[in-house]
Amino acid sequence: MDRIYLSPPDVGPREREALLRAFDSGWVAPVGPEIDAFESEMVRYLSGASREYHPDGSPRDDLFCTALSSGTAALHLALLLSRIEPGDRVLVSDFTFVASANAVRYCGAEPVFLDSDRSTWNLDPDCLAEALETLSREGAPARALICTDLYGQCADYGRIAPLCRAHGISLIQDAAEAVGTVYQNPTSHDDPLNGPAGLQGDYGIFSFNGNKLLTTGGGGMLISKNQSDADRARFLATQAKEPLPHYQHEEVGFNYRMGNLTAAIGRGQLSRLPDLISSRQQTFVAYQEALAPYPEIRWIPYGATGQPNYWLSCLLLDPSATAVTPDLLRKALDAQGIESRPLWKPMHLQPLYRENRIFGGSVSEDLYSHGLCLPSGSGLTPDERNRVIQVVSQTLKAHRSEG
Ligand SMILES: Cc1ncc(COP(=O)(O)O)c(C=O)c1O
Repeated sequence: MDRIYLSPPDVGPREREALLRAFDSGWVAPVGPEIDAFESEMVRYLSGASREYHPDGSPRDDLFCTALSSGTAALHLALLLSRIEPGDRVLVSDFTFVASANAVRYCGAEPVFLDSDRSTWNLDPDCLAEALETLSREGAPARALICTDLYGQCADYGRIAPLCRAHGISLIQDAAEAVGTVYQNPTSHDDPLNGPAGLQGDYGIFSFNGNKLLTTGGGGMLISKNQSDADRARFLATQAKEPLPHYQHEEVGFNYRMGNLTAAIGRGQLSRLPDLISSRQQTFVAYQEALAPYPEIRWIPYGATGQPNYWLSCLLLDPSATAVTPDLLRKALDAQGIESRPLWKPMHLQPLYRENRIFGGSVSEDLYSHGLCLPSGSGLTPDERNRVIQVVSQTLKAHRSEG
């Protein structure tokens, strides 16, 4: 039996054809027509109101996409564009992947972590308000916020964005996991922030890592809102080379541009975006339906802030209702050739960030202790899905009869 992976790349003939087209063109370089086309197609996609993909749609002229070597590079550039300097404090979601915090360290700045809201698993706006007030009162106000859209669901920007604006800090939306997600303010249908994820902050970023819903094998995108930021991002991403015939450098830059072959794969994936999402949605719904007889499972609250992209099907095991722990379930799945993963370990529990300040922390700890991500790849077949369902239900059943 083949091993079932958590979220493997789902690439096929369309991506292969695009890759060969790019290869045959001779543009095997970090410049080329595929990069330009991937950026403009992403702008067109983001210019629409939904997660549909219209390659010929008209682009908004206040959106700029810069294709980069990774989502982490995009976060780093967003912080530099926000003029973050050594010693600055930057607020960061506690419940996230380490890249969100590491980018702050690249700038010599200090991440300060904020707990999650139980109803979305994303950053808690009340915690943000408290941190902004407290740090200002202490005379060392935060300079920016990196807010993660966890597992493909947007944070509550209807509350978060006004708080950032009121305190004059840059809002960087870490939508690494949320390509294709659509934000909807739960209390306002007219909120101008409603629309594709990536646009709710001053800057947005996507990741196209191998495990993401849309993959290029490795890559990222920075979304900015004006031409001068986009020009500066490109300049910094190409070693800050001055526009002169010879190599002239007046400040430190980075080698952060995406390659032309990589961008071609991205174009193929972007054209399949609605299908990639609907396949993951079907998996999530199938898990929920088949495992409905097990009230000891609670599911990620997808739908709390609009249409998620269903990147990963995540569950919580209620410790008051079952003796099955996430670790026990993970091992049972692994024994049957199925990969699953604990939820992100909160930043304040990481040895790397143990000394950093945290506002709250009990919600993210609780989610981490009780959660598990099940296989969710868009290429998962119904048979594979059933194998996962069987192991989960058998494991829960076995421990029920024990009890
Ligand atoms: C929330 C979050 N932020 C940032 C990143 C970094 O993206 P990349 O791996 O493309 O650098 C990832 C994923 O890897 C992520 O999940």
